[in-house]
Amino acid sequence: MTAIRNIVILTGAGISAESGLATFRGPDGLWEGHRVEDVCTPEALARDPELVLRFYDARRAALATVQPNPAHRALARLDRAWPGELLIVTQNVDDLHERAGAKRLIHIHGELLSALCRACGARERFAGSMLDGPPCAACGQAGALRPDIVFFGEIPYRMDEIEDALLQADLFVSIGTSGAVYPAAGFVQIARTVGARTLELNLEPSAGSSLFEQANYGPASRIVPEWVERLLARPDLV
Ligand code: OAD
Repeated sequence: MTAIRNIVILTGAGISAESGLATFRGPDGLWEGHRVEDVCTPEALARDPELVLRFYDARRAALATVQPNPAHRALARLDRAWPGELLIVTQNVDDLHERAGAKRLIHIHGELLSALCRACGARERFAGSMLDGPPCAACGQAGALRPDIVFFGEIPYRMDEIEDALLQADLFVSIGTSGAVYPAAGFVQIARTVGARTLELNLEPSAGSSLFEQANYGPASRIVPEWVERLLARPDLV
């Protein structure tokens, strides 16, 4: 087989589960006690801003209590070591990939540590509480900041760059995602159209598992470091 050069890696909540962050579609179907549509839509923000801002304030505060796990660290090691193109596209709004040291990273669904100003559209680093209605650093408007999270019905970030990377990919790897949310769930099909090899690493088969050529099932903290070591040792095998 020819050696792999260009890699796109998609990650989801499963990669952060062993760090102590809840996945979205757990056994009770709730995210930290809420239905996703009650906290993750523009309608929810308009209807009950206090609930939504409080919810994301709590998620943001929780970041201080968690650490990257061996799966985040393994991807950061791959990012440092890999000589070809590599892009980690995460659906996660936590900062565990960057805290592990990953650099070639896109947050397609936004970030907890970022605020979006509803008055001027600026996006700025934000670590505090939005419930207090702090002013926007760019325009000064108080109470206009909202979580910089791509809610359902909104457009994910940096799709052009991601599509370009997918169209150049020799290998597409999906890690810890249920494959329930588009457009990310469709990336495997784009990669397949250009002949990329495809690999799923997840606790269990996802909704789209049949679309992948290869799969390994188990906890991310074990199977991701194992895969990274294998790939770095033999880039011609997946
Ligand atoms: P989900 O909660 O839908 O799926 C998490 C996946 O991780 C499932 O397939 C689990 O089997 C798997 N998993 C759980 N623990 C794992 C472990 N220790 N190791 C490996 N895999 C494990 O989360 P996402 O697919 O990320 O959007 O959800 C996609 C989007 O839906 C999220 O980005 C979010 C949500 O609505 C926004 O916030 C905009």
